[in-house]
Amino acid sequence: MQRDSVLGTFTVALVLCVACSLLVSGAAVGLKSIQTENRLLDKKKNVLLAAGLYDPSTPVEKAFGAVEARVVNLETGEYVDGDKIENTLDVTTYDQVKAAKDPKWSVAIPGGEDLGGIKRRERYSFVYLVKKDGALDQIVVPINGKGLWSTLYGFLALHKDLQTIRGITFYEHKETPGLGGEVDNPKWKAQWVGKRLFDEPAGKPVIQVLKGSVDPTSPNIDHQVDGLAGATITARGVENLVRYWLGDGGFGNYLEKRLQKRKASDGQ
Ligand SMILES: Cc1cc2nc3c(=O)[nH]c(=O)nc-3n(C[C@H](O)[C@H](O)[C@H](O)COP(=O)(O)O)c2cc1C
Repeated sequence: MQRDSVLGTFTVALVLCVACSLLVSGAAVGLKSIQTENRLLDKKKNVLLAAGLYDPSTPVEKAFGAVEARVVNLETGEYVDGDKIENTLDVTTYDQVKAAKDPKWSVAIPGGEDLGGIKRRERYSFVYLVKKDGALDQIVVPINGKGLWSTLYGFLALHKDLQTIRGITFYEHKETPGLGGEVDNPKWKAQWVGKRLFDEPAGKPVIQVLKGSVDPTSPNIDHQVDGLAGATITARGVENLVRYWLGDGGFGNYLEKRLQKRKASDGQ
């Protein structure tokens, strides 16, 4: 075969295509486990970030030693015991984002209650129990919901009083940098720390992300954080998704059970 013939050109192009596609698909398959591991590590880092415990000089795995991951049945509010969910899913590899899209492992959210705009939610969720000197100090819960362009995925950390916010962080979204993307701004996130999530005594989530800044004389200052300039849709989305996940449709049953257990053990 002549090298500069039409057939030669096509043969070289074909061989190159096959070789490159084998290389790319081989790399994709070969690197999958590393990607999965990195995603898991990034989630752990974000749990620590929400809890205010992330320190770049400490390996994530080491810092995560203070955290116990448990799976909760959101309907009953009870922990899953053992290493299988309903004798089927392995707790250690449970992927709740995937479960939220699977009709067997998720439930449809009635329209009027779907504050986060996510249509379905998983039936089981991780919660992360953050210990300090061996005792429970914070509970970090996964949250997600719609902003303007995307679904935001993140974590919210609650003090052990189950009322005070210790931190919030988002590890995935596609909001516009400088606008909705300001949800990642450490200054904005810092405002959430110390805010109170629920009204009393009803216990409904009333956290508010305002349009504009919090009025320092407002009687509701404990429940309010500043809005995001030029990104009210994302800001409203964050308010709604936090209210959804910490309300009756999300972790409400779980938090209620925790409170009851605490009262019982306090002898109240
Ligand atoms: C290119 C472009 C990107 C935008 N990205 C966002 C965004 O990520 N989040 C958001 O809430 N609003 C975004 N907006 C603005 C919204 O369309 C809307 O005007 C805004 O949320 C209203 O907020 P404001 O009342 O604070 O101005 C974007 C607008 C444009 C033109």
